[in-house]
Amino acid sequence: MTIRYLSAQVVANRLCAARQTGWMRLAVPALGEVVPGQFVQLTCGDDLTLPRPFSVLACDAAAGTIELFYRVVGEGTRRMAAWQPGEEHALLGPLGRPFSQPPAGSRVLLVAGGVGLAPLDFLARSLAARGQETVLFMGTEGELPFPLQPESAVDALPAGIALQSLQRLGVANRLASLRERPGFFRGLVTDLAIGYVQQLSLEERARLWLVTCGPMAMMAALARWAATEGVPGEASLEAHMACGYGVCVGCVTGIHQAEGHRLYRRVCVDGPVFALQAVDWQQAG
Ligand SMILES: Cc1cc2nc3c(=O)[nH]c(=O)nc-3n(C[C@H](O)[C@H](O)[C@H](O)COP(=O)(O)OP(=O)(O)OC[C@H]3O[C@@H](n4cnc5c(N)ncnc54)[C@H](O)[C@@H]3O)c2cc1C
Ligand code: FES
Repeated sequence: MTIRYLSAQVVANRLCAARQTGWMRLAVPALGEVVPGQFVQLTCGDDLTLPRPFSVLACDAAAGTIELFYRVVGEGTRRMAAWQPGEEHALLGPLGRPFSQPPAGSRVLLVAGGVGLAPLDFLARSLAARGQETVLFMGTEGELPFPLQPESAVDALPAGIALQSLQRLGVANRLASLRERPGFFRGLVTDLAIGYVQQLSLEERARLWLVTCGPMAMMAALARWAATEGVPGEASLEAHMACGYGVCVGCVTGIHQAEGHRLYRRVCVDGPVFALQAVDWQQAG
């Protein structure tokens, strides 16, 4: 892999009304193809030493653009929220190990928490393009910079609000929130997803492939549930990062090996995607 910073030009930067989350399109013609699960490191200012890692939400390699979905949490993302079209910033990528190809014939269950939607939305669209059966559940407390639409109950899915872009591609999806919001399932997204699975036939449950990205507590709870149900899959982890390409060893997490022992693995190059049951959730959380 060649490590070099590329110039990324802001094409569009749209914040939701409360400015908690944003959607950004960047033109990075030299980046090439990015696949679901990979991320980029963005520099947010010369005085901020470390670049910030973001999963890629979408990539149009022919147009030379990528999209990001970001939450404003600190200084770097606060600056990003103010970026205007035409501005140029340095970007490193594509980085990280992407999601695996789900087993043929599986029904893919995607469970996202907050901005964990970014890599899963990308994955959902790529699976839909290959005709793979895919369902997505998302938990969010804030506003979203994406259009939503009400959907009626279908198969094992309750009536509720859905992400329009995925629904149009045939990826059934529903949203959950802990507070009362019209169309949202009120409660944990894990309960929404598990409730959905409980409505499936044994044959359908036997061919589930679970992929998750979001807060550690959410992913750990899902991993525990998946272990008892025997559902295989993957999780995309976050870790504080410096280099982003395997050199500083600042992003390690405990990963169980097939032989039974546990090793530290670098989230930036050995991940961020790991087998769901390989992650040491106690340590990672
Ligand atoms: C592989 C990967 C993919 C990610 N994808 C997304 C995404 O798609 N959308 C999104 O909004 N966020 C994503 N994050 C989290 C994002 O990197 C942090 O929210 C961001 O770095 C915060 O920067 P800040 O300057 O605003 O916050 P500050 O708290 O001021 O940051 C201080 C330092 O801590 C680091 N840091 C803070 N929070 C995190 C975190 N959760 N993970 C890693 N480093 C952190 C920052 O990079 C910075 O070095 C991802 C993180 C990783 C590791
Ligand atoms: S961030 Fe440097 S090794 Fe992972």
